[in-house]
Amino acid sequence: MDEIRLVGVIGAGTMGNGIAHVFARCGYDVMLCEVEQRFLDRGLATLRKDLEREAAKGKITAEAMQAALQRVTGVLDRNRLRECDFVIEAATEKFETKKEIFADLDRITRKDVILASNTSSISATKLGQATGRPDKVIGMHFFNPVPVMKLVEVIRGLATSQETFEAIRDLAVRLEKTPVEVNDAPGFVSNRVLMPLLNEAMYAVMEGVATAEAVDEVFKLGMAHPMGPLTLADFIGLDVCLDIMRVLQEGFGDPKYRPCPLLVRMVDAGWLGKKSGRGFYKYE
Ligand code: CAA
Repeated sequence: MDEIRLVGVIGAGTMGNGIAHVFARCGYDVMLCEVEQRFLDRGLATLRKDLEREAAKGKITAEAMQAALQRVTGVLDRNRLRECDFVIEAATEKFETKKEIFADLDRITRKDVILASNTSSISATKLGQATGRPDKVIGMHFFNPVPVMKLVEVIRGLATSQETFEAIRDLAVRLEKTPVEVNDAPGFVSNRVLMPLLNEAMYAVMEGVATAEAVDEVFKLGMAHPMGPLTLADFIGLDVCLDIMRVLQEGFGDPKYRPCPLLVRMVDAGWLGKKSGRGFYKYE
């Protein structure tokens, strides 16, 4: 793992730009790859803003901030990742999209390169099957906001080698995160437990048990959650929540994972939470 210098990050959305941020802050060169210039511009702008925030709070020096920014190169052509020593994918939470990316990364990158996914629920075992190197495919699940949250859920696919697991566990430590080992199962641990909580909170709102504000107050004041479940759902993205519920529903075949109909309707309406300006709450 000492040889890792250049890291490829696929996707400059909330998770991708946060992941690029922590790698750059910890001294790695980063290629941040997107499909369209406007998504890349938005991701790079967020990355800059978050690094500036850390510098303003004295968490990093102004020099370290500048150095981190200079380590990040935005690219639109995935073939540019051929030089990378490690690649992590943080694209949409759709299996077909990720499968195509993994097959492509298998073609583009050196055969010794570990390919990780920041998937929040999709099987690392299945992603490994899209490549000719399933022993080098692994889940490396960061949490939003990535520069702040300490956890990395490290998900072993059935075919992931011990060597790959140890390399990613050590890499997470180098990024000043705390790795937790989890085996491959729908939603892993984090979203298997979190998403049904958020989904149930949505049912409570849909059924008129309480307002979104009241549900959130219960969890903030009664359980000391930093955000109530509906604020958190808006923060994660309602489309992401729905995708994860569908992975749980399909993966376990248990009706208890049925997505809340209100969630489905809100996603259909384009009310995706904070990023779209409207979810359970309205945002400026
Ligand atoms: N980049 C850098 N620093 C950031 C940041 C970012 N994007 N966002 C927040 N911060 C920093 C702030 O600058 C602040 O720093 P100081 O402590 O030095 O002042 C600190 O984090 C706290 O932020 P705020 O003061 O703005 O606000 P807060 O105290 O309300 O905390 C929060 C914000 C950290 C987001 C907190 O509300 C929280 O922990 N919420 C829960 C988040 C959570 O559950 N995340 C997991 C979501 S699930 C997921 O990601 C995975 C999945 O698969 C769905």
